[in-house]
Parts: sequence; structure tokens; C-alpha cells
Amino acid sequence: DPGGSPAGRLLDWYDRHARDLPWRVSPLARARGRRPDPYGVWLSEIMLQQTTVKTVGPYFEDFLARWPRVKDLAAADTAEVMSAWAGLGYYSRARNLHACARMVAGELGGIFPQTEEGLLALPGVGPYTAAAIAAIAFDEPAAVMDGNVERVISRLFAITTPLPAAKAEIRDRLRTLVPDTRPGDFAQATMDLGATLCSPKKPACSLCPWTDICAAAAQGIAETLPVKPPK
Ligand code: ADE
Repeated sequence: DPGGSPAGRLLDWYDRHARDLPWRVSPLARARGRRPDPYGVWLSEIMLQQTTVKTVGPYFEDFLARWPRVKDLAAADTAEVMSAWAGLGYYSRARNLHACARMVAGELGGIFPQTEEGLLALPGVGPYTAAAIAAIAFDEPAAVMDGNVERVISRLFAITTPLPAAKAEIRDRLRTLVPDTRPGDFAQATMDLGATLCSPKKPACSLCPWTDICAAAAQGIAETLPVKPPK
């Protein structure tokens, strides 16, 4: 089906090709109305800040098994949390994780904030993570832009301005695409597109749901984008 909005096409692709990751709700469960648990979304996004999807998987499962709810994590000993984190690196994340769990379980009554602004006030949650949690856990139409998404969007619109100057334009373009329905799936679909088909060196444009609306593909310049900062 070549028709539909760009977001609609991408979501169709995501329904067929989403990576099966431990913090995601399966397409079947989602069709039955299941929502991701904000605690699990937050935990996964903190772990994914500086660590790969592959490494995070088992740690995420271990944390959820040990501390199934935010109040369980809040009640844990800091030393225990630090040792469960061992191997993920960037240990200030683990300290902030525990402080955040205590803040949510305590002063926030066990409820995660639902807006980007509210989420930004939490320890360890910066602009990217706030946008990701707002979109994925609460279906807020936030623009979630990591390195993979920068590559996808710079190609879709053939943005040839070098990074980092290109970021503002990429973000503006991304905002025009974010749908009101399923913005969380849209965010994860752009991540998956960047992590799979829209790769840095050999993009698989023939398999891409956006190939016939992609300006870089039309110009044959996909693998040259985004343009790196001048040395
Ligand atoms: N990287 C950061 N957040 C992610 C997510 N929700 N799914 C896949 N990769 C990610």
C-alpha cells in the first residue's frame, strides 16, 4: 500500500517488523488494549541512554523480576541496586535511578509524571529521555530524536546542512511527522528504521516503507547523510 500519511506507512511497517524487545508490548497485546507500564518504560530508557539494546535486555529483565514496581526499587538498598547495575557502566545513572524511584514512590505517590516537563524534573531524566517516556508510556506527541532518528529524518528530507547545525531543522521536520495516534509506536518505529534498514553505510532503501517519499533516496545520496561536522 503506497498511500497514507508518512506516519501511517511507518506504523504499518512497524506492525510487521518491530523488533521484539523486552520492554515493548507485543502487537497482539497492544491490539487488546494493553499499555506499557510507565515504570518499565522509564527503567528501559535510563538503561538505554548509554548502553546498547542487546546488553540492556537481560539487565532490564533482572531488575523487573527483582523489583516489579517502583516502590520495590525505592525500598531496595542502594548497594544492592549498584551491584545489580554492575556491567552497565556510567554508575551515576544507577544512583539517579534509585533517587528517582524514591522520589516517585515517595513525594509523587507512586505515579510517574505524564508530561515532558514533569518528567524532566526527575533525577537522571534529560530532554531525550523525557520525550521518549512521554511518547512511549503516555502517548504524548513528543519528538523523540536520537542519532538513528537524526539519520532517518535527514535522509527523508535530504538535509545537507552539517551536524550539529542540522539538528534544529531535523527536529522541526520530525515534529511535522509525529502523529496524534500512536506517537509512542511512531517514536520506536523511527528508532527501529534507523537501527535496521536506514543504516549508516548501506541503507536497504528497497525495503523501506518511506523509500518512495525519501528525498535522499530519490537523489541517490542516502549514504552521504547526515553530513558530519567539518573537522
Ligand atoms: N533506544 C532508546 N529507547 C529505545 C526503545 N524504546 N527501543 C529501542 N531502542 C531504544
